[in-house]
Parts: sequence; structure tokens; C-alpha cells
Amino acid sequence: MSNWIYDEYKHCGVDYSSEEHAKKYDTEHQTFRDYEKEFNSMIEFLSLKNTHELEVIDLGCGTGATSVYATKQFKKVYGVDISDVMISQAKKKLSDMDISNIEFINAGFLSYEHKNEPVDLLITKAAFHHLPDFWKQIALLKMNNMIRTGGILYIHDVVFHFDAADYKEKIDNWISIFEKNAGAKFKEEVETHIRDEYSTFKWILDGMIERAGFRIENCRSNDEFITEYHCVKVKNIKI
Ligand SMILES: C[S@@+](CC[C@H](N)C(=O)[O-])C[C@H]1O[C@@H](n2cnc3c(N)ncnc32)[C@H](O)[C@@H]1O
Repeated sequence: MSNWIYDEYKHCGVDYSSEEHAKKYDTEHQTFRDYEKEFNSMIEFLSLKNTHELEVIDLGCGTGATSVYATKQFKKVYGVDISDVMISQAKKKLSDMDISNIEFINAGFLSYEHKNEPVDLLITKAAFHHLPDFWKQIALLKMNNMIRTGGILYIHDVVFHFDAADYKEKIDNWISIFEKNAGAKFKEEVETHIRDEYSTFKWILDGMIERAGFRIENCRSNDEFITEYHCVKVKNIKI
């Protein structure tokens, strides 16, 4: 591998390679998240029908917040993550269930090679901000190759909608709202996110998505930070 390729396994910001962190992830996140509600809201946002006929990749699947629910509705699920300890937690949740339509792969946005047919839907939730912008664009091109033409890309992540000149006030305000909803521990995590991870401006991400052969069908955000994109692959770009 070339020496200049970004090492996506090095974990910027919050360390998801830590077993201790992975074990606590669901308990901590479920103090302010409802995975099932999030999943149903995503299905509605994307206006998905006949999900039992669809194949899906969940990139940055973590402990399976989305993948576990996806197994109940979709034909086939590929859960991909660079953290083997996060994947272990996802597998643990499924161990008591009689489920055979999910495959977990220890790889990432840049290293995953989808060897099967392109999928109908690619989901990435709370993970894309781990790549710097140059590598986000490369990852989007790789996603283009993993999705069939007409298929859907769903991105859920922290994206900055504000005018750059207002950054201090906007970020401080968002962090204090987050602290109220999720508590002091998550205040620290959000500070780490802003400082050490790679969330970017909406106008940048919009351009990247479009340059990677997708049309943005819909984009929504309640707080102008946490943002959902419904994108459709309109052009095949081979890389
Ligand atoms: C905040 S967690 C989100 C997990 C899950 N999607 C959820 O909604 O709870 C971020 C996940 O992204 C993964 N991740 C970080 N960089 C990645 C990369 N380059 N490729 C794939 N996954 C990555 C981490 O290992 C971690 O499991």
C-alpha cells in the first residue's frame, strides 16, 4: 500500500478500538438515543418500500444500532466497521436471535471492497466525520461503486450549517444543548468531536456528494448540526 494512503484504523477523536468503550457504548448512547425509533424514522425519511427485497451496507456499523434492526426488514445486511471490538458487541446482540442475513466485515470507508453485487442502500450513521475531507471524497466515490444506479445513499452525521463567521457562538450553543439532553460525559465527547474529528460545512459536503455521482433528494436537520441526507446514485463513476 502506498505510504501516503490515509490510515483509517488510527482512530481520531473518540477511541472506538477500546474494548472498554465498546462495552459501554450502547448503555451510554441509549440514555439519549432510541435505536428503534431512529431506524423507523430513517425508513420513513427515505420512503423505503419492500425492504425485504433490498440489500444494504451499513458503513461504520459500530455495535449495530442500525444493522440489528435492519436484519429484521432487509434481505441482506453487510455491517462494516474498522473496530473489531464494536463489531463483537453487535454480534453479541444477535447471538440469541435466529438471524442469518447479516455479515460483519472488519474494514472501513477506504479499505472495504464490496465483492458482491452493488447494493440498493448504503447507510452511514455517525461515522463519516472520522475522515478528513479529501478522504471523504474518495470514500464517496468508493460508495458510488458499492451502490447500484438508482440506489440510495443515506448519510447521518454532524454537519455545520452555520456561517463560518459565527462558529464560536453556534458551537458553544449546540454543545450546551447537547449537555442538557445527554449529560456531562457527552459534552466532553462532543468537544472531542469538534476539536479532533472532521465534521465539515454543509456546502462542502453537498458538493462532495454531487461530485461523487449522487443527487441530493432530501436533507433534514432539526438543529442545523445533526443532519440526514437522502441521496440517489445517478451516475456511475468507476474508481
Ligand atoms: C459513533 S460510532 C457510530 C456507530 C453506529 N453507526 C451508531 O449509529 O451507533 C462511530 C463508528 O465509526 C467507526 N469508524 C471510524 N472510522 C471509520 C472508518 N474509516 N471506516 C468505518 N468505520 C469507521 C468506529 O469504529 C465506530 O464504530
